[in-house]
Amino acid sequence: MAERGIRNMKGVILAGGLATRLRPLTQVTNKHLLPVFNKPMIFYPLEAMQQAGIKEVLLTSSPDHSGHFANLLGSGEEFNLRLYYAIQKNPKGGIADAISFAEEFAKDEKILVILGDNIFKFNLKIIAEKFEKKQKGAMVFGIKINTDSKQYGVIEIEKNGKVISIEEKPETPKSNIAQTGIYMYDNRVFEFIKKIKPSVRGQLEVTDLNNFYLKEGTLECQIIDWWIDAGTSYDELLRANNMVAEKVRNNEL
Ligand code: G1P
Repeated sequence: MAERGIRNMKGVILAGGLATRLRPLTQVTNKHLLPVFNKPMIFYPLEAMQQAGIKEVLLTSSPDHSGHFANLLGSGEEFNLRLYYAIQKNPKGGIADAISFAEEFAKDEKILVILGDNIFKFNLKIIAEKFEKKQKGAMVFGIKINTDSKQYGVIEIEKNGKVISIEEKPETPKSNIAQTGIYMYDNRVFEFIKKIKPSVRGQLEVTDLNNFYLKEGTLECQIIDWWIDAGTSYDELLRANNMVAEKVRNNEL
């Protein structure tokens, strides 16, 4: 029997940015096309979309090397997805700016956003199916980390799972739960993005976006247990390669 899939939710994968921290690797191609063990990095979020049951995905990238994505991924057939492409004019615009490019594509549907350098094991299908039926709201995905959480968005939650605060790269983190690069939004997301002002680093921050939902009490958080942001540094890229290799050898990924 053919899989039903998610009908009222679209996927958005963010694969822009200049990734100057990974030069000279990123002079060869876009960061999200670099290898992580046996696949280009971008395959992982694409597979996560496919697993979630999403059928149409918009991939946003910056003008540099953008043709490399089309050459590699084409129409998305290999992933059983229909792929669309958008160029983020300002590669330093930030996550919320990149999401705004999906407004026309999303029409009046909800969206699942995944950062192109995020690798994780959590199957989003059940949550996506529930979220698809919700009237309004947003969902963030957090992970407990042992290292310093202040390089991330930090989520503070109550014992019952209610989100109390999310702060972007706080000096004094209120918890050890990092905000990952996986988000679900209702269609009002595009209106909220228009209200965001650039942060001190000059970006439209995803944390400011999530705080609109938090303030109105419609933000939920799901904790996941294995996640890596492969694109932040040479060390994280190497760690991602080693961790993925281990998981693949153990048939866990
Ligand atoms: C971004 C988000 C941050 C999140 C992180 C996950 O940070 O702003 O909230 O924790 O992605 O990778 P950036 O990579 O832009 O520093």
